[in-house]
Amino acid sequence: MCGIIGYTGKKDALDFLLDSMELLEYRGYDSAGIALTEERSADNSSQETKGVPRIMKCTGRVSELRKLCHEEKLSGSCGIGHTRWSTHGKVTVENAHPHRFGRVTLVHNGIIENAPALIEKYDLEGRLVSETDSEVAAAVLDHFYRKDPLEAIRKMTLKLKGTFGFAILFEDIPGKIFSVRNVSPIVVAGTEEAKILSSDVAAIVPFTNRYFVIPELSVAVLSKEDIELYDMAGEAVEIDWLTVDWDIHHSDKGGYPFYMEKEIMEQPRVIGETINAYVKEGKPDFGKEGIQDEILADCKRICIIACGTALHAGLVAKSLIQAMIGIHVDVVMASEFMYNDPVVDKETLVLAISQSGETIDTLEALKFARSCGSPTIAIVNVKGSSIAMAAEHVIYTLAGMEIAVASTKAYTTQLAVLYLLTARMALARKLWPQEKLGEYMKELLRVPEVIEGILARKEEIHHLADTMLNARDVFMIGRGLDYSILLEGSLKLKEVSYIHSEAYASGELKHGTIALITEETPVIAVVTQDKLKDKELSNIREVQARGAKVILLIKEEKEEQCENYWKIFYLPVMQDEFMVMPTSVVLQLIAYYVSADKGLDVDKPRNLAKVVTVE
Ligand code: G6P
Repeated sequence: MCGIIGYTGKKDALDFLLDSMELLEYRGYDSAGIALTEERSADNSSQETKGVPRIMKCTGRVSELRKLCHEEKLSGSCGIGHTRWSTHGKVTVENAHPHRFGRVTLVHNGIIENAPALIEKYDLEGRLVSETDSEVAAAVLDHFYRKDPLEAIRKMTLKLKGTFGFAILFEDIPGKIFSVRNVSPIVVAGTEEAKILSSDVAAIVPFTNRYFVIPELSVAVLSKEDIELYDMAGEAVEIDWLTVDWDIHHSDKGGYPFYMEKEIMEQPRVIGETINAYVKEGKPDFGKEGIQDEILADCKRICIIACGTALHAGLVAKSLIQAMIGIHVDVVMASEFMYNDPVVDKETLVLAISQSGETIDTLEALKFARSCGSPTIAIVNVKGSSIAMAAEHVIYTLAGMEIAVASTKAYTTQLAVLYLLTARMALARKLWPQEKLGEYMKELLRVPEVIEGILARKEEIHHLADTMLNARDVFMIGRGLDYSILLEGSLKLKEVSYIHSEAYASGELKHGTIALITEETPVIAVVTQDKLKDKELSNIREVQARGAKVILLIKEEKEEQCENYWKIFYLPVMQDEFMVMPTSVVLQLIAYYVSADKGLDVDKPRNLAKVVTVE
């Protein structure tokens, strides 16, 4: 989950490292640290960059570290930096990275599962200053280091169990950064000016658009002039370069106070771009992705694996596919997948959905499904990410860089892809006449414009959010597709506002939860599905009878009388199955305004991280 950055080049590295770490803070923000090798002329020779890297670290944000580094006048042209999301050891300065042991200084993302055994084997008890598994790895590397860094790294990786992405400095090899990884991602890029590495493409974007992902268990060596890549036998490996198509300007806030608002506002554009990328002559088309119709036509069932917001996109897809295609769809939390004796086979199409493409649980579940012979498709936002590489086929969402921890545009672009995939599946199975496809595509193509309409009403939504500012709990109720929408709406609200919020299938309320409803409890009720409307309205009356204040989000054409409700918001009319799009955007804005008006750090909610690379 931690963010890693490294720079070796012609300029001073400090500000580049700090600026990049701020971009990477979404990976973890409980502490931050930097190690820099200072430039020094040795014995009047032209030799430069000699000496031990200086380390600065602190708990808290990169802004704190920035102050510290400037006070201490830290400088140097080769360095590594780290933003931490604690796994091993509390949030303390000692546990913050970088860690130095002997001649080795490193930063780490991942978990070394056998750290306790390594402490014993290499007699490290009492010799470590932190409680981290990362310092143990530094000690093991130092143990093997005999002036041959590649050999030492090879020997260390043989001893480590778990996941890792390391950026390493050896004190007697100034100016060079070494990197090796297993599962946890590291990307590398270079220009005339410098060579850099990072845990995320996000840090590469302001620098260049050309990068590569270090293959697992290969070693990248960055010097001011060059980038080299070696396999574990020490043989040079050819680099497989990729291109980022995210615009550099997409990594700033674009005049909004928070990335979350900016990303919500970008949705009409990015949804439009995602849809257009996969439509050819009015039909969904995944030919370029190598997805043949047979894969979609022959599968007997579908299993969707994902976490968090991506999981909620999967739930919407389940409703769609079961209704439109009539095949069974399971949606499984990737973190639970392996513990429930998963049954997937050649006849199960497995869809892995992930914004980052790095969520370890989703990645592991996907690898397992492939090993069972299941055809696999990943729906991913980050190009070249681990999940994108691990799946047989990949469909990229074109959301661009998503920086706010709470996912918004990634979710709606995932939905856009899932709508298209459902339609392609219907075509592949010859289920839909031309006319039906035409209607469906017409409605899908309206989505950006309908969302524009919602965004234009943001002040109206802001007023709805005001009613929740002092709430202790907010319940959200709906049935069917409305329930899936609310699961996501409730996750958004709780993660950014810290208000306890739960989504309930309205029919389930009276089996327990209704006991919690009081006059103090705002209840958001969503009614967008014609076939469920009557039942939903009677469930709403049940909570009203217990004093609940109901905020109703309902399709405009329903014209419910306002008097019965605390607040009412009329949603623009779309075909029922597409109502998830405008409704989700209303719920995103509610969560955003509650958080912003409470004065919280909207983009970086406490305890969370955007990229979850630990199980
Ligand atoms: C974290 C993020 C969520 C995200 C989930 C899955 O919890 O904070 O926003 O939905 O991980 O991430 P993924 O990158 O796989 O979509």
